[in-house]
Order: sequence, then C-alpha cells, then structure tokens
Amino acid sequence: MKKKILIALLIMGGFISTLSAEQSLIRISTDETDLVLSVAPDGRLYQRYLGRRLLYETDLAHFADYASTGAGGSDAAKAWEAYPGSGAEDYFEPALAVTHNDGNMTTILTCVSSETKKLNGNVAETIIRMKDKVYPIEVTLHFMAYAKENIIKTWSEIRHQEKKPVTVWRYASGMLYFENARYFLTEFSGDWAKEVHLSTQELQFGKKIMDTKLGSRAAMHTYPFFELGLDGIPRENEGDVLMGTLGWTGNFQFTFEVDNTGNLRVLSGINPYASAYELKPGEVFVTPEFIFTISACGTGKASRNMHDWAREYQLKDGKGDRLTLLNNWEATYFDFDEKKLEELMREAKSLGVDMFLLDDGWFANKYPRENDRAGLGDWEVNRSKLPNGIPHLVQSAQKAGVKFGIWIEPEMVNPKSELFEKHPEWVIRLPNRETYYFRNQLVLDLGNPAVQDYVFGVVDKIMTENPGIAYFKWDCNSPITNVYSPYLKEKQNQLYIDHVRGVYRVFERVKAKYPSLPMMLCSGGGARCDYEALKYFTEFWCSDNTDPIERLYIQWGYSHFFPVKSMAAHVTSWNKDASLKFRTDVAMMCKLGFDISLKEMDEKELAYCQGAVANYNRLKRVILDGDFYRLVSPYETNHTAVMSVCKEKNKAVLYAYDIHPRFGEKLLPVRLQGLDPAKTYKIEEINLLPGSASRMRFSGKTYSGDYLMKAGLNLFTANRISSRIIEITQQ
Ligand code: DGJ
Repeated sequence: MKKKILIALLIMGGFISTLSAEQSLIRISTDETDLVLSVAPDGRLYQRYLGRRLLYETDLAHFADYASTGAGGSDAAKAWEAYPGSGAEDYFEPALAVTHNDGNMTTILTCVSSETKKLNGNVAETIIRMKDKVYPIEVTLHFMAYAKENIIKTWSEIRHQEKKPVTVWRYASGMLYFENARYFLTEFSGDWAKEVHLSTQELQFGKKIMDTKLGSRAAMHTYPFFELGLDGIPRENEGDVLMGTLGWTGNFQFTFEVDNTGNLRVLSGINPYASAYELKPGEVFVTPEFIFTISACGTGKASRNMHDWAREYQLKDGKGDRLTLLNNWEATYFDFDEKKLEELMREAKSLGVDMFLLDDGWFANKYPRENDRAGLGDWEVNRSKLPNGIPHLVQSAQKAGVKFGIWIEPEMVNPKSELFEKHPEWVIRLPNRETYYFRNQLVLDLGNPAVQDYVFGVVDKIMTENPGIAYFKWDCNSPITNVYSPYLKEKQNQLYIDHVRGVYRVFERVKAKYPSLPMMLCSGGGARCDYEALKYFTEFWCSDNTDPIERLYIQWGYSHFFPVKSMAAHVTSWNKDASLKFRTDVAMMCKLGFDISLKEMDEKELAYCQGAVANYNRLKRVILDGDFYRLVSPYETNHTAVMSVCKEKNKAVLYAYDIHPRFGEKLLPVRLQGLDPAKTYKIEEINLLPGSASRMRFSGKTYSGDYLMKAGLNLFTANRISSRIIEITQQ
C-alpha cells in the first residue's frame, strides 16, 4: 500500500509541476460574474476574486502574480483556500474534515488537474481534481456556470482508497469568501403557517449559523436560502448582493464566519449534525448543489436570475404549462363521499379550472382515514367513502370535463395502520424509549431499499391502476422523530443523509417512469422548497396559511428564490374580511388554484371568479414565464405591488394591494419596471366585479413605457384590503 501511495504521489507531483501559468488560473464566468481561482506553486487552490465580471482577459494575470506570494506570503490573508481541509494553517471552519484510518484528522488538498468543458453555448462546467499528498483521498470540485442567467452551482465529490472506511465529518458543497467592510445577511424563517418571513442582520466577528435538524420536513423553521448584502442591507434595485441556496431536502447548514481580518467565509452544505459519515474505500460522497448568483443591481435582478435559470434548467417541466385546479381539502377536510366529490368536480368545471384535486382522507379500511390519527400507509381506497374506487372518480372527473389529481403522503405511517402492523421494522423509531408523535405519525426508514421500493410502489400502483390520473400532490407532514433507523443498526450517524438519498432514489424512479406527470411538493405547508426536490416537482405548496394578507408576505418571500410558476396559491375561505376578489387577486400572482366550495360564493362572486380564471388562462404565459418585479414591499409600506412582464416586453400584468392604509396616508405613485421605454402601452384594469367599472383614472389610457417607469401610476387607494389587477398591452 505504501508503495502505491508513493507512486501516486510521484505521478501527482509531476502533474502539478507541469501546470502552466495559465493553468494555474481557473476562471469560472457568467455574463456578469467572475470567480477566479489560482493554483499556488505548492498545488494549493485559492479563491482570488469573486465579483462583477472583469472586462479584460489580460487583467487575470494580476491574480497569477498574486498567487506567487503563496499562502505564507505577506498577502496570505488575501489568498483564501478554495476548499480547505481540517488541520492546516487556517484556523476557521473547514470545508472538508476526515478522520483517516490511522486516526489522523488532517487533510490538505492540492490541485491535480482542472478542465473546463462547454456543455452548450450557455453552460460550462469546470472540474477541479484535488488530492492529499499524504493520504489517498481525492476531492473533485464541480462548478457549473450558466452565462446568461448568471448562476453558478457548485458541489464536490469525495472519495478515498484507504484500507478501511474513513469518517467524513465536514463535507461542504462550496465555500466562498468576501472582502468587504460590512456584511448584511437576510434570512427566511418561520413555522407552520408563517413561512419565509424575512429578517436582516449585520454579521459581526465570529459565526452565524443557519441550519435545520428536522430531517424530513426540513425547512419548517428556516429555509435553505439566504441573501447577503455586500455593500449594505440588501436592496431591491441596487447594490451588490449574493443570493445562495442549497439543493438538499434534509438537514442543511450555512455558516457565515467573519474572521480575524474582517473577511467573510460562507460555507454551504449538508448539516454535519449527528452525521459523521463512514465512507468506504472507492465509494463516492457527492455533496448537494449550492446554487448562487451575484447581482450588482440588488435582489430584484438576482431573483430574476434564479427564476430564469430554474425554468430553463432545474424545475420539472420548467418551461411547460401549469394546471389550474380546485382542491377539496378546505372545502371538505376528511368529510366527503363520492357525491360531494362529484359535485366539486362539476364546480371545478363551472369555475373554468383544469383539474379537480382529491386531498387527504381517501384511503385505508381497517383503520379508516377519518382524521389524521389513522390509516396513513394503507393506500387502498376507503370503500365506505368511495365504494366505486378511484377509477370511478377519474371517470366522474372526465364526465365533468376536468382532469383528476390525487394527494399522497407515502413517506409516512400512522401507528394505527396495517402497514405499521405488518412492517414495524420499516419505521424510524427508538427501540428503547417512549415514542414521540408529530401529527400522530412516524417517518418511514427511506435509507432502507425495501422501503424505497414500497414508496415508489405507492405511486406506481395508483398510476398503473389509474393511468388517467393527471397530477400528484406529495405531502410530508412530519419531521424525523425518535431518530433511530432499524435498518442502519450501529450506523445511526448515517441516518439523516441516507434518508434523503433514499427519498431522491424514489423521486428519481417516479420521474423516470412518469416524466411528464405534474407533481406538487408539499410539506405541511411550505417546509420543502429546495432546488433538488424541484427537479422532480413542477411546483410546491407555499403555506397552509391562505389568508390573503399573510400570503402577500409569504409569496413575497418565496419569490426571492422561486419563479411564481412553481408557487401554488389557492383561493380559500381564510380571512373572510377579505373579499373574494382580494383573495383571488392574491392567488392570481402565482400558480392559481381554488380550495373552496362554490356554495360559499354568491352569484356575483362566482361570476367574478369565472372571469378571473378566464383572465388567468389568457395571461398565463405572461404571469408564469415573465420577468417578475417586486415593486413595493409589504414589509415597508401599508401596500404592496408586483408585476410580471413577458420577455418580449409587449405584455405585462400588474398587481396592486392596499393592506391596511392609515387615515390620511400619503399615497405615492408606483414606478413600473421591465417595460420598454420606447413602447406605448395601454393600461386596463381587469378582474373587475361584474357590473362595475374601473375607478382608476389611468384605466383605458395609453402611456409610454418611459412615463410608466419614471412617473408611475397611482395604483394605491385608502381602502383597507382592496386590490387591483392591471393588464398592460403594447399598442
Ligand atoms: C398538509 C397540507 O399542507 C395540506 O394542504 C393538506 O394536504 C393536509 N396536509 C392534508 O393532511
């Protein structure tokens, strides 16, 4: 073995010494951003620059000069190791930490090779191979740069050839450094029904950690994304800002560490909490993708970068259409039968939506799913509620003229279920302590391949028996509780990671077999919303809180990272102080649905909703695929306004909401964005209540894009909880 290591070292040494000056610089670029790394003469890899794209290629040479000072030179503080291992001369949080077979805990990586491949006209992948000179451990760093969208995503692969497994206890997806005077972090936090509330703080010396230990319903309290103001508090339309997000549907961790020199290190990856990972020789540990964008024009532009990239490259069917729907959850909860559902299907048709979605409560017989205390796991139709089964419902939907979608929560089990009786060993729970229940349920042990087969089988069986099913809502209502995997036995430290990987294996199989099946990701509201899961889902459920006032804040929050196309928003009966028009106007901003019986509407309201659905269908491409602008923040004023502008800039939809204006408050005009200043646009208020005309003086008039973006429109009123939707059309 020693001989083998020696040979490997000699080969590696040869390779490094042959790296030319150009090879020693690695440039990862988008149209607006440059990330420059350099390989020092001793092979160590450093980040030299991250920021606005440099105009002149020749300037890059300055970074090579700089590299020659090496890590130990007087400029050492400015040469930040790109992926530092533990136990070297850097005394801050490492990207990688490994306990080797001999108990040694140091790892120092040197660069072996780097290559950049153009995958197409817009995407380039840079692969950097690194090795430790003493231990046979290899790390491959990947950087994928999307030029037009200004997105870089990075992840790493860790492997080794030691005799026995090594323990990997730090495994960052990526590490970034910033050298600024001050740093401001915006995080998104909350809980059930109060998702993604924004708060900003200045980072001071030391560490700020954003992480979760919830396992499956992982983002219930904090979300896997953040914003970093690099020249002040992140602002919407100006300033340098980094926006980053991790594609991991489990425990994640972002560490922001301001070091002794006042520089900021940002580490992103899986949360290593209780997860020191035993890696076998030859096995590859692939970290999740860390996706980031840097904008010199504030968070608005950075969000549009994310939206464009997500629709083009990441979101399932990102470029495709979306189905409007009527869901029965809030209309019936668990209390329904065929007759009620068939009525709702007809209501869906009369509203004009595409689909009826059957929610929780349709399954289980021995322990019928009458409430959330029983039946989860038994995916046989409940014969007393639905004696003719799902095929009959699919047919009824067809007869009513709508598609049919169905809810499942296949990763979970109620202890009161036949599944639990049959397979108690498939459940994550402690053998030697009292069991704790979250929503009366437990999490299945997805690290176990037999459980993966079972969960895949839930979808597969429903689809095989009912090929007419057009949509799935996949829920996940519990975090991992009673943390013990019967399958992993003495390797409990792998539970959190293997569990998420098991979930992905199932998602992968579902997508492979049903590639064009639209699916909603749901987690007791919005506790699952990350870009790895969204490879397999066309949209996610933002929150169980459908009070339209709260939704304005929640949708504002998510829109920072996700295109509205991926954000499901339903009209319900939460907050009856808000008119049905207001509730609909709020949901219209995203992927529209209804979760309300038409019986709750009077004639005028129904006619209003039908008109709104028709408008939505007519304007869908603008709303869902346009550029999204956040114009007025509900956090800063008593109103809010946003708009979607189609890529050709000939059509836009503008949304304005008065939340709780104060008496005599000064109402300011709203300057629009994203239009062509040279074009002339007609402004027209739509979504009006039947029989009423617009009271907006601008409605029906034409203006230049220049005027609309400089002088603006008086969109707001002094009325509480009132809204306006404006259609803007190039003349
Ligand atoms: C939580 C989801 O967020 C709701 O929309 C609904 O599907 C319930 N679960 C059903 O139990």
